[in-house]
Amino acid sequence: MEFTLDEYQKAAQAIADRLPGRADTAVVLGSGLGRIAEQDTLCEIPYGEIPGFGVSTVASHAGKLVFKRLGGRNVLFLSGRFHFYEGYSFAQTAFYVRVLRLLGVRTLVLTNAAGGVNEAFSVGDLMLITDHIKFFDDSPVRGRNLDAFGKRFFDMTTAYSPSLRALAKQKAGELGVGLREGVYAYMPGPQFETPAEIRALRILGADAVGMSTVPEVIAAAQCGLRVLGISCITNLAAGMTGGEIDDDEVTQAADMAYERFSTLLASIIEGLDRV
Ligand code: HPA
Repeated sequence: MEFTLDEYQKAAQAIADRLPGRADTAVVLGSGLGRIAEQDTLCEIPYGEIPGFGVSTVASHAGKLVFKRLGGRNVLFLSGRFHFYEGYSFAQTAFYVRVLRLLGVRTLVLTNAAGGVNEAFSVGDLMLITDHIKFFDDSPVRGRNLDAFGKRFFDMTTAYSPSLRALAKQKAGELGVGLREGVYAYMPGPQFETPAEIRALRILGADAVGMSTVPEVIAAAQCGLRVLGISCITNLAAGMTGGEIDDDEVTQAADMAYERFSTLLASIIEGLDRV
């Protein structure tokens, strides 16, 4: 499924008509972080009221766009995202990224829950995403190129903004919040991976594995959004503990990281003016 420029513009207009102000920063709240979008909100728009947006079918994802102040600035929060495993195409999972671009957003912070592949990682660790691996599936920008969003062939070398990564590390250091760094491997899901897949991913250089974020980062790189990605390690990946991966434990671990994760996020957002 491809979208026309007109469809992106209609969605952006529908949002702009309701927002009480402009925001140049957006944050996508992954599992466990949704609570940020429940307090002190200035405007909430359910995804179902935005043309082109899908409906989030994941229980832990609320499915609304929220405008609020955080870290001294206006921020748009996406509480809930769309995943390939829900049946959405890559273009649909990344639809909102291009809409944010049209709304004037320049910095996109993507958060997610991920399995730890690196054997030094523990449940509850936060990991700054330095790069990703995605060999398979679609691209969100496949098809007729919409020049308004950039060139067909575009660079991914600095898709995870070096200056935003430096800011995140600095803030984590100041707060005393541990922040790992590593490569996020995208897997389509919804099944968790097999132990053999995890061993293969580790050999290939992955530190964490998850089922989101990467389509959005690709779309963001094309249209020139600066991206910061942070994963919460909610479990050790398949085959690493001798036990099985339990979805409830993943959700619980994400919930437990909330205070640390949201404090770090607010502090990073506060520091954005300097990078
Ligand atoms: N694999 C893929 N996605 C995930 C995992 C995992 O182990 N944990 C949380 N999201």
